Amino acid sequence: MPETAPTDQHQFCSNPRPEPPAVQPPQPIPQRLPQPCRRQDTPPTPLTENISQLAATMTETGIFSADLLSLEVQAELPQGYKFRALRRSDYDTGFLDCLRVLTTVGDISKAQFEAQYDTMSRPGSGYYILVVEDTNTSPPRVVGTGAVIVERKFIHGLGSVGHIEDIAVAKDQQGKKLGLRIIQALDYIAANTGCYKTILDCSEANEGFYVKCGFRRAGLEMAHYHETPKGSEAPNL
Ligand SMILES: CC(C)(COP(=O)(O)OP(=O)(O)OC[C@H]1O[C@@H](n2cnc3c(N)ncnc32)[C@H](O)[C@@H]1OP(=O)(O)O)[C@@H](O)C(=O)NCCC(=O)NCCS
Repeated sequence: MPETAPTDQHQFCSNPRPEPPAVQPPQPIPQRLPQPCRRQDTPPTPLTENISQLAATMTETGIFSADLLSLEVQAELPQGYKFRALRRSDYDTGFLDCLRVLTTVGDISKAQFEAQYDTMSRPGSGYYILVVEDTNTSPPRVVGTGAVIVERKFIHGLGSVGHIEDIAVAKDQQGKKLGLRIIQALDYIAANTGCYKTILDCSEANEGFYVKCGFRRAGLEMAHYHETPKGSEAPNL
């Protein structure tokens, strides 16, 4: 019998492997699309740098979440004054000048300021540093500050205590109730981070201020000062 030519079906059953793909011609290398903005190798102009710096400042987050700012206390500030958390960019916005009203700050470089900020802003470090900004001036100026440090404990069912520190209002801004509002705002932060009490140390001269803020004398402070860094004076609290 003459051999019959194999059908398509027969070919499929005896040879299930798919046909090898046809050799593709080499693909042309895609050309880079022209960049709509400035070219990568063009250095930024001072204007674009300024704009990007401004945008970064506007979106910059602070050392704690803005959710911890009391809207009620904020509403009591004078027109154009606002609370916000300390920012990494606050080296020369008036923050350090406020602290100079309180005590010696020392000669701190911007890099040192930023390194300290980075350490203090690590998650869980417990530093809540608040500033009052006067936006009536251009650029806005920090005119007051205060901090609460939340200390975690093993006592009182793993309780926390808020330590108020470094309250200062710029000399030309004192007497406008900014100090009072700073204390109220810090007390709000302490209460809303789970502190069962807020405490602070002060001089006799400032006792009346803290009494007006709702604090009362409790206990006695003891101190042992360690070696003072060269060039700085004893704290004036
Ligand atoms: C102490 C300080 C923070 C007060 O801030 P301030 O904005 O000037 O004070 P306020 O306007 O909020 O004052 C609130 C009330 O406290 C009173 N007060 C302010 N300082 C006072 C003081 N040293 N002693 C007694 N009462 C005082 C005010 O007269 C006001 O009373 P009133 O409500 O009857 O009008 C500010 O003067 C300052 O920065 N001082 C230098 C730094 C300092 O000593 N910080 C405290 C470190 S513990």
